Amino acid sequence: MKFFADTAEIDEIRELADTGLLDGVTTNPSLIMKSGRDIKEVTKEICALVDGPVSAETVALDAEGMIAEGRELAKIAENIAIKVPLTWAGIKACKVLSGEGRMVNVTLCFSANQAILAAKAGATFISPFIGRLDDINLDGMELIEDIRTIYDNYGFETQILAASIRSVNHIADSARVGADVITAPPAVIKKMVAHPLTDKGLDAFLADWGKTGQKIL
Ligand code: G3P
Repeated sequence: MKFFADTAEIDEIRELADTGLLDGVTTNPSLIMKSGRDIKEVTKEICALVDGPVSAETVALDAEGMIAEGRELAKIAENIAIKVPLTWAGIKACKVLSGEGRMVNVTLCFSANQAILAAKAGATFISPFIGRLDDINLDGMELIEDIRTIYDNYGFETQILAASIRSVNHIADSARVGADVITAPPAVIKKMVAHPLTDKGLDAFLADWGKTGQKIL
């Protein structure tokens, strides 16, 4: 399973990249707005920190506009994945951009039918938004499961990128049903390590070790 950080905050990305566990980054217009940075400048910095795909999102509503913006964003670095929304225009743009050999992330996916269209259009990634489905009392994880089944039925190579992840449970559940990638806020990824029994066990081991009077180094 690949880990992407869902943020445009350079410090957060650097901290995770330093662990060697970060496989990519996803951004969107809201995250760029929150960062307060220029999209091209901050995206270039992110691409220099992370070897894997860095998603940068187009904002045009028509296919021609998305294609032009996608080509412009792709100039930032080799590892840009162009993000387009799951509309007919986005699907058309995905087909053209993926045909040019570019990585494309089709975002704002909320149904299996939408995911089928993205795969047929050659998307590198499909981004189903788990948290936003859960927000309206639908089952985000069921959507990931459906897409997994459908993609496996037909051998689609589009990677399922579980997005809108809000909790550590979303991460384990996404892994359980076979998502290829999760993108999550760094704060959520960092919480994955936490377990009270780990802390308790470590305290007990260190207390006993102290009683031995030994040193390893
Ligand atoms: O990658 C998409 C993600 O940023 C959306 O998350 O929490 O705004 O639904 P959220």
